[in-house]
Amino acid sequence: MKILIIGSGGREHAIAWKFAQNSKVEKIYVAPGNAGTELLDICENIELFNIEEMVEFAENNKIGLTMVGSEELLVEGIVDKFEERGLTIFGPNKKSAILEGSKAYSKNFMKKYGVKTAAYEIFSDYDNAIKYLDTIEYPTVIKASGLAAGKGVIIAQNKEEALEAVKEMLLDNKFKQTSARIVIEEFLIGAEASILSITDGETIIPFISAKDHKKIGEGETGLNTGGMGVIAPNPYVTSDIMKDFIDDIMVPTLEGLKSEKMKFNGVIFFGLMITEKGIYSLEYNMRLGDPETQAVLPLMENDFLEILEMCIDGDLDKVKMSWKNSSACCVVGVSGGYPESYNKGYEITGISGVNDLVFIAGAKLEKEKLLTSGGRVINIVSLEKNLETACKKAYNSIDKINFEGLFYRRDIGKLYNI
Ligand code: AMP
Ligand code: GLY
Repeated sequence: MKILIIGSGGREHAIAWKFAQNSKVEKIYVAPGNAGTELLDICENIELFNIEEMVEFAENNKIGLTMVGSEELLVEGIVDKFEERGLTIFGPNKKSAILEGSKAYSKNFMKKYGVKTAAYEIFSDYDNAIKYLDTIEYPTVIKASGLAAGKGVIIAQNKEEALEAVKEMLLDNKFKQTSARIVIEEFLIGAEASILSITDGETIIPFISAKDHKKIGEGETGLNTGGMGVIAPNPYVTSDIMKDFIDDIMVPTLEGLKSEKMKFNGVIFFGLMITEKGIYSLEYNMRLGDPETQAVLPLMENDFLEILEMCIDGDLDKVKMSWKNSSACCVVGVSGGYPESYNKGYEITGISGVNDLVFIAGAKLEKEKLLTSGGRVINIVSLEKNLETACKKAYNSIDKINFEGLFYRRDIGKLYNI
């Protein structure tokens, strides 16, 4: 079987690594891929510039399964284009991808189907939005409705900050069409959790819980990033919380999918907040998380490709997931300056001395040298019986890696009171 993976991050390297464990896989094309996928024997990196080229490539090369890493192409409708041509692709169609593509849509969906979420209002009119700011408590959360690569969420500490954010989004068009509509929502205090799941629209199966570390600075301070590290399972997701997640969030979401006739084979990644009042849904992502995938897939005992195939065949209800009785810690090494401006092209050394899993993100191979080529550069993933040793081991490993400007948080896996 030949597979096509679309994307270039640490997530796509981890997906390719997991697929490669299935002996019937003969070749994995990754578009565009990175140095990590280039170094896997079974992989070949290719350049495909738009959906039409991807469809043609899949057709001409008899690709048995295509998997898309990030959200943009899903929201654009890549799944519909593949399916129109009879090609097998795993992911939500355009109609369902809107659950990630529009926060206004997904909040209304959650309200309609009783999915537990923060109170909110939606605005496209500036005057109405600022009137509303007189009636609420602070801090408050202001979100651009459309896709903004994690940058469209502002936590306003007071009314002045909220006015500024509303003005930027609705009047100054800071995020262009993305912020033509905004969501203003109740600020929740607690611990975040990510739960990935797989669904065929009839059945939904949650994966092991994970915890991302989104901010650049230790103690969750500073600017938002794509993710600076992950631990799995998430220690805040106790069995009681998991039960509440299933009853208050996952099951009503599935009911909503059925009622809205959102039928697809794909992933729902629930972005969650665990508060004193229980677990709340913050958002849906309709794809695997990065870096969540790098910590979650190594804990999965099942063959990932087999699960996807069962899902596509309508047999998801027969899948029994099984997870290693271990903890995973993923630490992300980034280029100095990230998530703002940073330099690229520095040589990365020390990987051969690492005894843990290494998933490459923003790095390319040039004349056999590994050079940085992005903000998030490298993921080190350690699996151990408990979280503390997993994190200690991941840090021992990443300490061996070197490139100019390398930065990583020292507190991945450190638990704070909520
Ligand atoms: P989202 O893209 O909706 O997941 O928001 C990005 C990040 O903003 C989340 O991971 C949280 O850290 C934070 N955030 C979003 N919504 C809220 C909320 N209602 N209360 C507190 N923090 C939030
Ligand atoms: N780690 C968060 C995301 O993939 O969106």
